[in-house]
Amino acid sequence: MCGIIGISSNQPVSSDLINSLSKLEYRGYDSAGLAVFSDGNIIERKTQGKLNNLIQRLKNDPIDGHVGIGHTRWATHGIPSEKNAHPHSSSLVSVVHNGIIENAEEIKKDIKSDYNFLSDTDSEVITALLTQNLNKENDYYKAVSLTVQRLEGSYALAIMFKDLKDTIIGAKKGSPLVVGRGEKGSFVGSDTIALSSVATEVCYLEDGDIVIVDNHNIKIFDQQEKSVNRDYVNFSISQDDTSKGTFNHFMEKEIHEQPRSVGDTLRQFIDYDNSIISNPDLKINWQKVNKVHLIACGTAYYSCMIAKYFFEQQSKVPSECDMASEFRYRDPIISKDTLYVFVSQSGETADTLAALNYCNKHNAETLSIVNVVNSSIARESKHIIYTKAGPEIGVASTKAFTAQVITLLSLSIICGSSKDLISNNQNQIMCKSMLTSPKIIEEAIQRSYALKDAAKELIGSKGVMYLGRGTAFPLALEGALKFKEISYIHAEGYPAGEMKHGPLALIEKGLPVVCIVPSGPLFHKTISNIQEVIARGGKILMITDDSSLQSESENIWKIFRLPDVDPILETLIYTIPIQMLAYYTAVELGNDVDQPRNLAKSVTVE
Ligand code: AGP
Repeated sequence: MCGIIGISSNQPVSSDLINSLSKLEYRGYDSAGLAVFSDGNIIERKTQGKLNNLIQRLKNDPIDGHVGIGHTRWATHGIPSEKNAHPHSSSLVSVVHNGIIENAEEIKKDIKSDYNFLSDTDSEVITALLTQNLNKENDYYKAVSLTVQRLEGSYALAIMFKDLKDTIIGAKKGSPLVVGRGEKGSFVGSDTIALSSVATEVCYLEDGDIVIVDNHNIKIFDQQEKSVNRDYVNFSISQDDTSKGTFNHFMEKEIHEQPRSVGDTLRQFIDYDNSIISNPDLKINWQKVNKVHLIACGTAYYSCMIAKYFFEQQSKVPSECDMASEFRYRDPIISKDTLYVFVSQSGETADTLAALNYCNKHNAETLSIVNVVNSSIARESKHIIYTKAGPEIGVASTKAFTAQVITLLSLSIICGSSKDLISNNQNQIMCKSMLTSPKIIEEAIQRSYALKDAAKELIGSKGVMYLGRGTAFPLALEGALKFKEISYIHAEGYPAGEMKHGPLALIEKGLPVVCIVPSGPLFHKTISNIQEVIARGGKILMITDDSSLQSESENIWKIFRLPDVDPILETLIYTIPIQMLAYYTAVELGNDVDQPRNLAKSVTVE
């Protein structure tokens, strides 16, 4: 999704704007632009493509000034192009926008005669309305307030009026907007990462807020146009967190961070005095939870599918999962004795936030598992658990997923223990196992280097199937998603037992099939399914473990072995090779691993 930045500084602003835009690149984009107050005018520079194009444009044609706004655009309405890039400006005002204006066409029709639209975007209607309202009201705050009241959909705005020197006005509804302050001045941005090099304190705007920012002070007004104070929190994101370090890609770095991120996330659930899994700070009355309903998107949804097994196995609580984009459109029945769990790395995913708001409207008991502190989903939830994965920059989610899995496993054990279904001794045994997960993940990473060659052989495939049973089925879905979203090769995850009901028709000689087959109760059943695939020429890459009975055979292309683990840790460990296989394939193809085409890191539109 788009990223916005606004800076009112006591120093030249162009380089800080570019620096903040570079930190917003991870969100995914296809054009970029900025505008700066300079000698009483607003000067724009906009380019299609990567940020380097804008940097080059600025080098050739610099702009002096201390106040400016910037934008990375992820196209929704209007193709990626210079004219559709933000800012959108008139003779009076310049605007950058993150979100979608759902009534843009209606607004355009109303004001077409008064305004000469230059772009094909929905966002430009904001510029048109601001211009019209300023001419009418001759009051900057009023012009913004009247404009946002007319907008339907979502927006985070940074606005500069030509005659309102050194000031930026921000407004927020449905898309995140953070306000920051630091030595150089005051700022607004889409997230804290964008402000990480200029702000030392941040606060989070609420829907309906309007903020007036100039270098010396910040004034916030709420939906009722009352002046309000939002709490500032000290803030620092280490440079390490937002740099690749010694790795080639953020995704590679974040895969390697998983021993630490899983360990850090798990730590909040360890009662070291009693060596059990617990979390007294989480004020959920598990005794009253008779059902768990998990809701998320994409990779986060697959961690929910795995959690369904955890909750039913560990706490005998019926559980179900929903993709957030489908959930509220089926008019779900919200029940009092159900715990609604929302899982999201960014905490800003529009579909997940909308599903949460639906549940809140029905006074449901809500818990969110989120990686970004104070994100919208976190702030709208009754209960919140933060995964401790640290900023995840690569669009393909890796360390956030394993952090979600260890969190959901811990919660299922806490729920089972609260219902006296797990004895203290059983809890201690599982706790001891879980404490080994960082070490075993590290071992899995080291072994996965061997998949580099296999990845090379996947290039040119027509597609790749991923198969698994039990919790290996959501892993098959996750493996296929990781693979397709960065290699651009079609991949499909399927329950191994379902192949004979249709998809077996896809199998032809040489089609790669990744089979996730831990030793255990489903091993032989899955092997039978694999034999069906082998018999039709499928090229099997089997991911199994050291004690698996499967021997190398001419029918199996490759066997990749992981260390034997406690079954409750399987999904954590088996994730690693499927992440690395996708990563190596994308690198071999020369794709933009961290910012794959068409995708965004935080999907703040429905
Ligand atoms: C996963 O690799 C994708 N980037 C995507 O499916 C992502 O998991 C999904 O958009 C949900 O994002 P969230 O966890 O921030 O809500």
